[in-house]
Amino acid sequence: PIVLLLSGPNLDLLGERQPEVYGTATLADHVATATAEAARHGLAVEHLQSNHEGDLVEAIHAARGRCAAIVVNAGALTHYGWSLHDALAAYEGPVVELHLSHPGGREPWRHTSVLAPVASGTVAGFGGDGYRLALDAVAHLLGREET
Ligand code: DQA
Repeated sequence: PIVLLLSGPNLDLLGERQPEVYGTATLADHVATATAEAARHGLAVEHLQSNHEGDLVEAIHAARGRCAAIVVNAGALTHYGWSLHDALAAYEGPVVELHLSHPGGREPWRHTSVLAPVASGTVAGFGGDGYRLALDAVAHLLGREET
């Protein structure tokens, strides 16, 4: 089974971007973490990073009937990307929202997630460990924790 990992705007700059907030690991490092944890549960990770909301919407459409679950760190689109909300609402599998930082403890505009209503749950505030925790959550949601 395939887990679609989606990375939104500016996450391609991880490692260089505000390391005091987001750490020094690169997105490739995080994808490797997620891929290794997924493999422990017999899952494969397919990753897409885009700075364009429409690319992410189309990836969610293409996941319908094909991917077992979606893990999404939508970057700032988390807070206003209603087309991502709607695309995820049309997706049948479990969705885990992921953040490196803890948006609820930051600026007020980050406190609202338009993705939360269409996610099973959120992993936030644990830095790069979140990629492992999110894949673990997916495995539980898919009933694969014994694999
Ligand atoms: C983020 C949190 C968002 O508020 C921010 O816009 C990001 C990254 C995180 O992983 O902590 O780009 O999603």
